[in-house]
Amino acid sequence: MKKLVVANWKLNPKTEKEAVRLALAEDKLNVVIAPPFPFLSAVGKVLKRAKLGAQDAFYEAEGAFTGAVSPSMLRSLGVRYVIVGHSERRADGESDATVAKKVSAAERAGLAVILCVGEPWSVRKKGITAAKQFVKMQLSADLKKVRSPLIVAYEPIWAIGSGKADKPEEAAEMAQFIKSFLVKRSKLKVRVLYGGSVSPKNAESFFKGKGIDGALVGGSSLSLKQFREIVASAKV
Ligand code: PGA
Repeated sequence: MKKLVVANWKLNPKTEKEAVRLALAEDKLNVVIAPPFPFLSAVGKVLKRAKLGAQDAFYEAEGAFTGAVSPSMLRSLGVRYVIVGHSERRADGESDATVAKKVSAAERAGLAVILCVGEPWSVRKKGITAAKQFVKMQLSADLKKVRSPLIVAYEPIWAIGSGKADKPEEAAEMAQFIKSFLVKRSKLKVRVLYGGSVSPKNAESFFKGKGIDGALVGGSSLSLKQFREIVASAKV
């Protein structure tokens, strides 16, 4: 199956003009681009090849929820994918219960969910077995009555934005673990992406890993040159 490469722009770039410029350049690639909410519409209008993604979605469809954005609003802008439960949001107080509601709501609205999971260094330093246990707890708490197809992004927290990526063989071991756990638990077939300091230097070694179906790319997706090299190594 073709590898899936997702650009998570996070809180970047600063202006709509820059966002559109970057989107036009990255549109030549077969990828998903997730810009900040205010730029979704403008970016969506210029994309021809790449698919539009969002970085979050609320769990209610409408009502008195100041500042929230619903999955159906995103759909109406042409969004196809949504990242849910990113560790940067969890660090800001998003609980597993909230993540679970967001996953279900996004799925109901017809968005392809990219659920982020991953352990902190305090867990990983005890070894990969401890990390698997942590990820298993997250998956159990975050996925209630979910159907395939679902995408899980394994992003060890300590590897995000740190320049210190996971070892490709351990990321692959985790990807296989996630797949077998979800098939056994609820016959859920998932694609697994690796995320955390993916760069042109290390991307190929992750794509080659058994069980790894693509990458969620933060920092390197803001540089056209780096992102292009990453995508080229995925041969998408
Ligand atoms: P990074 O971010 O590539 O900058 O480490 C990945 C992510 O947070 O999705």
